[in-house]
Amino acid sequence: MIPSSAGVLSDLERVLIDSTAIQLRVAQLAHQIHRDLEGKPLGVVALLDGSLFFVADLLRHLDIPIQLHTLSVSSYHGETTSSGRIELAEKFPFHLQTENILLIDDILDTGLTLSSVRERLIREFQPEVLRTLVLLNKQARRIHPIQADYVGFEIEDEFVVGYGMDYQGQYRHLPCIGILNPSKNALSSIPS
Ligand code: PRP
Repeated sequence: MIPSSAGVLSDLERVLIDSTAIQLRVAQLAHQIHRDLEGKPLGVVALLDGSLFFVADLLRHLDIPIQLHTLSVSSYHGETTSSGRIELAEKFPFHLQTENILLIDDILDTGLTLSSVRERLIREFQPEVLRTLVLLNKQARRIHPIQADYVGFEIEDEFVVGYGMDYQGQYRHLPCIGILNPSKNALSSIPS
């Protein structure tokens, strides 16, 4: 990222995971997934907006047939903690023709989003294999009983931005993952 005087990187209190570590882990995850699925064709469902950069980087490591679909789901609704509610349409706006589905999200927090979409995918497409992948796991905040099959990094209960994750629509484009400076986060003083 090119530094500038109005740089958004300086809005971070600290970097939690730098871009080198992210890219290394993404490559490892891709390798593991390729090995586990034995290179079989894959239907990928990526939850947007948060997984945008993660999915783009990950899939480019996979030299196998991939049918990619995205789904916009929001549970944070502009806040710094999950709201406890998501809206899902009655049917998915796509059809999956593969036996293997990989559901990808950026972060697993209360588990509401991943468990809801996972359950719906199984019900609608009845895949032979459905695996879940998240870049970040915030285990401390889990309410819905779900564990991802693949996890990039375990993190503490802190609000993070960057590499797809936002605060009110900003910071998604940062190449690293970090903690916002409290002065930039209007909700930082409100307990979760
Ligand atoms: C975030 C994140 C996950 C979800 C995790 O989405 O991207 O999809 O919340 O929280 P949960 O485990 O409590 O359901 P957000 O609402 O911020 O939407 P976004 O992906 O568009 O940023």
